[in-house]
Amino acid sequence: MDALQLANSAFAVDLFKQLCEKEPLGNVLFSPICLSTSLSLAQVGAKGDTANEIGQVLHFENVKDVPFGFQTVTSDVNKLSSFYSLKLIKRLYVDKSLNLSTEFISSTKRPYAKELETVDFKDKLEETKGQINNSIKDLTDGHFENILADNSVNDQTKILVVNAAYFVGKWMKKFSESETKECPFRVNKTDTKPVQMMNMEATFCMGNIDSINCKIIELPFQNKHLSMFILLPKDVEDESTGLEKIEKQLNSESLSQWTNPSTMANAKVKLSIPKFKVEKMIDPKACLENLGLKHIFSEDTSDFSGMSETKGVALSNVIHKVCLEITEDGGDSIEVPGARILQHKDELNADHPFIYIIRHNKTRNIIFFGKFCSP
Ligand SMILES: *[C@@H]1O[C@H](CO)[C@@H](O)[C@H](O)[C@H]1NC(C)=O
Ligand SMILES: *[C@@H]1O[C@H](CO)[C@@H](O)[C@H](O)[C@H]1NC(C)=O
Ligand SMILES: *[C@@H]1O[C@H](CO)[C@@H](O)[C@H](O)[C@H]1NC(C)=O
Ligand SMILES: *[C@@H]1O[C@H](CO)[C@@H](O)[C@H](O)[C@H]1NC(C)=O
Repeated sequence: MDALQLANSAFAVDLFKQLCEKEPLGNVLFSPICLSTSLSLAQVGAKGDTANEIGQVLHFENVKDVPFGFQTVTSDVNKLSSFYSLKLIKRLYVDKSLNLSTEFISSTKRPYAKELETVDFKDKLEETKGQINNSIKDLTDGHFENILADNSVNDQTKILVVNAAYFVGKWMKKFSESETKECPFRVNKTDTKPVQMMNMEATFCMGNIDSINCKIIELPFQNKHLSMFILLPKDVEDESTGLEKIEKQLNSESLSQWTNPSTMANAKVKLSIPKFKVEKMIDPKACLENLGLKHIFSEDTSDFSGMSETKGVALSNVIHKVCLEITEDGGDSIEVPGARILQHKDELNADHPFIYIIRHNKTRNIIFFGKFCSP
């Protein structure tokens, strides 16, 4: 497996755990690949401790050529937009007063072809805000309007990361709409909330993970370029969401074990999962600081001399907005006749909190990482 994919997964897990700590009972959702890409671009312009800490937090130790690695991933992932309504925006907006060095511009031109933009926060703040609002709106086909909240940028903003990720899943095997019923979703041991539950019976790759008393299933989207993995505890066993045991044991090694094909086998599954739409705006700054980005956000300590001679340049803010829609929609299910008799029968009823990952099959990068705790 390639080093960059391992690095990106490790960072994804670290940040997921941080976000879960911040939000123990609520839904969590973010796009690891967007954030990794943006921070790796920032690293190209960083030096000294600032560059080192980005490398550490993003687990780049064993990655030989980080920008080239992201160039390959970006180019592969961009191809997905011809199959899905998937938008991944990962921009770095830099104030023009930084007077970016020609070396930085030329070294990032290829690997980060669409990710770097120079704007004028200092002298034309309102115009720039409008420009960013509008370009993100256009790039997400109108889904994300006004992404910049009023206090997210000001005339002192030097470097701004804007991530916007949008996906409407289209399954390889569609759910029948007539099978969707309102069901109680057990948010914890005692309480339920109504949810629209989608149902089908079909063959999927599924497994049991005994160490966390949990089931795992892989649900491919159309054309199999993307899959959603669901980690579902067999029951709500703790006093909160029922996910405590998984969250505790989750790390990059355990995740790669749990999602390994050898953990799973084809089974005829009676599947029930909620229809849902989650829209999340996260502020990852505090989480990233906890993970070890100690210098990058402070004008006194950051070192961006790889991109600019200007002093006191820091990463001013990180805007990260994600929207994911899971519906019945998909292709016609083609079941192989005959195979079904031999198959082991199983059930997966996601009527209580679960963790999910949407992964790119080819590069194994995690596009979305979330937990669904409450409709
Ligand atoms: C910007 O950089 C160029 C060359 O890198 C230099 O010639 C120019 O004077 C700089 N401008 C400012 C305003 O610092
Ligand atoms: C950009 O969006 C923000 C937040 O929704 C809004 O308050 C602001 O007015 C917008 N700015 C411009 C210039 O359109
Ligand atoms: C379950 O969730 C409800 C509402 O979210 C909350 O009021 C209640 O205290 C929770 N019960 C337990 C046992 O945590
Ligand atoms: C992932 O890709 C491989 C080869 O490209 C393919 O054989 C496999 O079926 C795909 N996985 C899923 C779940 O579709």
